[in-house]
Amino acid sequence: METVVSGIRSTGKLHLGNYYGAVKNFVQMQNEYACYFFIADFHSLTTHPTPADLHGNVKQVLVEYLAAGIDPEKATIYVQSDVPEISELYLYLNMNAYVGELERSTSFKDKVRANPDNVNAGLLTYPVLMAADILIHKATKVPVGKDQEQHLEMARVFGNRFNRLYSKEFFPEPYAFNFAEQLVKIPGLDGKGKMGKSEGEGNAIFLSDEPDVIRKKVMRAVTDSGPTENDEVKPQSVQNLFDLLKFVSSNDTFKHFEGLYNDCNIRYGDLKKQLAEDIILANAPMREKINFISNDTSYLKQVARHGALKARESASNTIREVREIIGFKSF
Ligand code: TRP
Repeated sequence: METVVSGIRSTGKLHLGNYYGAVKNFVQMQNEYACYFFIADFHSLTTHPTPADLHGNVKQVLVEYLAAGIDPEKATIYVQSDVPEISELYLYLNMNAYVGELERSTSFKDKVRANPDNVNAGLLTYPVLMAADILIHKATKVPVGKDQEQHLEMARVFGNRFNRLYSKEFFPEPYAFNFAEQLVKIPGLDGKGKMGKSEGEGNAIFLSDEPDVIRKKVMRAVTDSGPTENDEVKPQSVQNLFDLLKFVSSNDTFKHFEGLYNDCNIRYGDLKKQLAEDIILANAPMREKINFISNDTSYLKQVARHGALKARESASNTIREVREIIGFKSF
């Protein structure tokens, strides 16, 4: 069975775009692959979170992945910092990663530009740590978005370089992997592109949002002043609301508002009210699960322990072989 690894940024809550665009795929993958999903808390240190943020965010992410349907009996779900073998592999890989190639990485350059006062070595070697995450389980499939392509390319370079250096076909090549036939894109509420956390307050609806928060966000969604001709092409902002409607509402509801729009009889307030209620309805089971799991400390503890144990079993096998290959011997 092929192995899948994916790291989840521990930077807080999931929104509908994360869920429908990525997490739902993870839930399907766990039935067909040996999956390792982890919360990348080492990576988050590159930006210096406070201890409270660090733990709180890891918990939030763990809770939401479980609520979304990741099954700890099927997939291995763990916290990166619970698996020290990853840091050991990171150390070895760092010896063969060149500063020049790391400096050329787009994500590094972006982060330097965004945070010129915090250009730490961890930031520079972020791709090495990510390669260690993947190679530690000898994974071949990595479900990530386009923005991670370059990191995956580097993981292949580091794995191949290790193989060449020690003349051994040890690490397989990991590739980006898309489980769904078609990527689902969930638009945001700002009238522009996709839903995202960094696109400003109110653009994203989080899985944990209370109904009132959802209503407020949807009512504030950007629209235009309405169609003036029959069957007018919708501007992006309005198209986005229809896309969301298509996603969460019944076909009848969708057609109803589509008809009103085409006859120039649409009232965006009515559409938004309906959309908000349908989002709330679609989201309710998940929100309830999030609240429930969040309060179940002993369950969370058990899941984290179980995950760490399974992940370490795989990771320590790799590390044992890596040490042998490099030439470490005990007396
Ligand atoms: N860099 C990834 C991101 O920003 C997170 C990540 C860390 C990751 N380690 C990984 C993803 C290993 C896949 C595999 O989204």
